[in-house]
Amino acid sequence: MPIDTDFVSYFTQVQASAGWDRILASFARFLVLDRSACVLDVGCGPGSLVRRLAHEAAFAQGCDADHCMIEQAQCLAQAEGLINVEYRVGVLPKLPYDADTFDVVTATNVIFLQHDPVAALRGLAHVCKPNGMVAMLNPSPQMNVAAATALADQQGLIDFNRASFINWANVAEQNHRFSAERITQMFETIELSDIVIESKISGLALFAKARKRDGGKER
Ligand SMILES: C[S@@+](CC[C@H](N)C(=O)[O-])C[C@H]1O[C@@H](n2cnc3c(N)ncnc32)[C@H](O)[C@@H]1O
Repeated sequence: MPIDTDFVSYFTQVQASAGWDRILASFARFLVLDRSACVLDVGCGPGSLVRRLAHEAAFAQGCDADHCMIEQAQCLAQAEGLINVEYRVGVLPKLPYDADTFDVVTATNVIFLQHDPVAALRGLAHVCKPNGMVAMLNPSPQMNVAAATALADQQGLIDFNRASFINWANVAEQNHRFSAERITQMFETIELSDIVIESKISGLALFAKARKRDGGKER
């Protein structure tokens, strides 16, 4: 199945698929959000995680480098009638927010694409409040086309669900695939603490979160 080169419609379809929705729901649970939290999702694409977090937190903000993604995210949030959601165009590592603004800053399937992932993580941590949380989802070193194809076969994935899952593996092969050790090292480099890493999707992806200390190096 050919992959759509219109990335807005492609990622809108990915985020609307049952498989990716389940993964983002699982990531949202991993955050263990406080109802009063103010959350930022960076590289939000069409904004599915932001809309989900808006139901669980006081305020949810989405940010993406691509203004077409942001326009789509705004349309979808408006269609849901969400009033505690806002979106901005912004590019890691220099995000369009003041330092120490958000309780929780997330990036799903974004940091593994970055040329300098430590600088990108520092960008996330910069806008996170002291004692707040930085969290991310990335493919693991086990993610590759053969492993994704085997899992797709095992789970009976077909059509778009299968093609997009295998495409994720293909993109992962050409970008970073961080191990738990590498994630720990990156978080420690920018002085994040209380690191939690969980293996997901039969070991093909890792969820990771850590806390920003007062006076961390990312400032
Ligand atoms: C693979 S998509 C992931 C979308 C969404 N987070 C998800 O998990 O469904 C990557 C998104 O990150 C955005 N992105 C990539 N690099 C970025 C950067 N340096 N700063 C901000 N957004 C970026 C892209 O425009 C795209 O919307």
